[in-house]
Amino acid sequence: MCGIVGYVGSNDAVDFLIAGLSKLEYRGYDSVGLSVFDHETILTRKTKGRVDDLRKVLTSRPLHSATLGIGHTRWATHGEPSDLNSHPHGNFRVSIVHNGIIENYRQIKERMIRKGYSFSSETDTETIAKCLDYYMVQKGEPLKAISKVIEKLEGSYALGILIKDTPDTLYAIRKDSPLLIGLGDHENYIASDMTALLKYTKRYYLLEEGEIAIITKDSVRIVDCEDFLEITKEEHYADWDEESAEKGGYPHFMLKEIHEQPDAFRRTITPRIIRNTISFERDNLDDRTLASIRKFYIVACGTAMHAGMIGKSLIERYARTPCDVVIASEFRYQDPIFQDGDCVLIISQSGETADSLAALRLAKQAGVMTLAIVNVVGSSIAREADFVIQTIGGLEIAVASTKAYYMQLSILYLLAFKLAALHDLLSSQELADLLHDFQHMEDVARDMLNQSGNDQYLASLYQGVKSMFFIGRGLDYGLALESSLKMKEISYIHCEAYPAGELKHGTISLITEDSMVIALASSKAIVEKTISNIKEVKARKATVLLVVRDDVEVAEDAYNQKLTLPSYPDVFMPLIEIIPMQLLAYYMAVLKGNDVDKPRNLAKSVTVE
Ligand code: AGP
Repeated sequence: MCGIVGYVGSNDAVDFLIAGLSKLEYRGYDSVGLSVFDHETILTRKTKGRVDDLRKVLTSRPLHSATLGIGHTRWATHGEPSDLNSHPHGNFRVSIVHNGIIENYRQIKERMIRKGYSFSSETDTETIAKCLDYYMVQKGEPLKAISKVIEKLEGSYALGILIKDTPDTLYAIRKDSPLLIGLGDHENYIASDMTALLKYTKRYYLLEEGEIAIITKDSVRIVDCEDFLEITKEEHYADWDEESAEKGGYPHFMLKEIHEQPDAFRRTITPRIIRNTISFERDNLDDRTLASIRKFYIVACGTAMHAGMIGKSLIERYARTPCDVVIASEFRYQDPIFQDGDCVLIISQSGETADSLAALRLAKQAGVMTLAIVNVVGSSIAREADFVIQTIGGLEIAVASTKAYYMQLSILYLLAFKLAALHDLLSSQELADLLHDFQHMEDVARDMLNQSGNDQYLASLYQGVKSMFFIGRGLDYGLALESSLKMKEISYIHCEAYPAGELKHGTISLITEDSMVIALASSKAIVEKTISNIKEVKARKATVLLVVRDDVEVAEDAYNQKLTLPSYPDVFMPLIEIIPMQLLAYYMAVLKGNDVDKPRNLAKSVTVE
């Protein structure tokens, strides 16, 4: 999705903006641009394409001696990716960059056209720029003009603003779209994402709705947008190091993050396991609160939702607490029937996913307890949920989520075991035994990573495949969904995930000798049933990759290739099985020459509905 950076200081603003925009590339974008003050004149350079394309534009039309500016990566919503639709938008008097969507932009645009303005882009953002220009002319004072604009806007926005009359000042506002103010030494910054700032500072303020930031090289003032009274802000510190935003020798962030999973797993679970018991006290979540939950609505999108599906199986099996897993974009319009003891559990890596955030707000409005599993500290979901369990494995940069999924699963295991213990469904000894095996998964995950050669080989066999089915039962079905999503989002191969037993109710008609089926059979309890289903597709001449635990004998004519997994209790197999599936998707994408970390049309954090 779109990204914003801004700089005011004594150094070269263009250098900072280009470096910051490069750090935001991972979010997914299709055009890029910047505006700076050059000798008190606002100058803009923008283009469809990547940061490298902007560099070329800057080589042919250089900008010199700018120490204040704003930059933007755009992910098209209103209007195709093009030079004209790229941000910044404005004129000689104002320039803005915008993340979010203005819902009433048509009305504003019509009004501005009546006032004599003409438009050169199809974007909602240009209407904000024209509106700001209009109020600058009317009010002649930046704060009054910005305040008027805020009054007019409906929708979501984070805005970085330059105004000609104040060539030493950068302004920022936001509503429902993240924006941070980085605090430096004789220089200050804005960014939609801390990754852009880590190289320069770790100190930041979180800007809130209804506030205007007035930022110069030596000061950051935040005022209320109605009466311009000064607001005292709490200073935050980002404990992510810059290294986590670097590839560290790996060819792609995705591969690095897959390899970081064992560490991320350990870092996430260790502080919550105390002498063979589980505690969420560090998350301010006490036993009484947890024990009072009668039902979970697990609400999330994409990979986070898939983690939720595994979570549902674990929580229902161990704690016998009912769970519904609902896709956030559906939940928000479903008018759910809440009852006493319900808890809405939001799972989100970024903590900014618009649909998940809306679901959280809906639950809060209904007075239901909200709990969030989030990776990004200070994100909207982390700030607004009643309780937050933070995953602790560092930044995730690759669009295809791997490490975040692993950490989300880790928390869900702990939650399921904890609830079971609270409801006396696990004895201390049973809990201790489970935790012993659970902690051992870190080593097993490392072993799985050491076998990546198998995945490279399989990827070389399958690189010509046009369509794939992932099938499995129980936990394997949850894994099939996630494995299929990984494969399709980066390899661009059409994939479907199906419960193995459901195929024969219709979809098996698609299975022919051209079909590729990845059959997941890690669960010992139901492996025979899954193998029967595998035989059904094999009998229809599909090519079958069987992913199976190594303590199960399977006749050789049931598959074409086999990938064996070390045998552990069924409950832990998702933590083992997901690794070769992530690696397979990764190597397929690499062999196909795709942009692994920034797959087409996708964005890291989906901040629009
Ligand atoms: C997964 O690879 C995707 N990037 C996507 O499905 C993602 O998990 C989803 O958009 C939810 O994001 P969140 O965890 O940041 O809320």
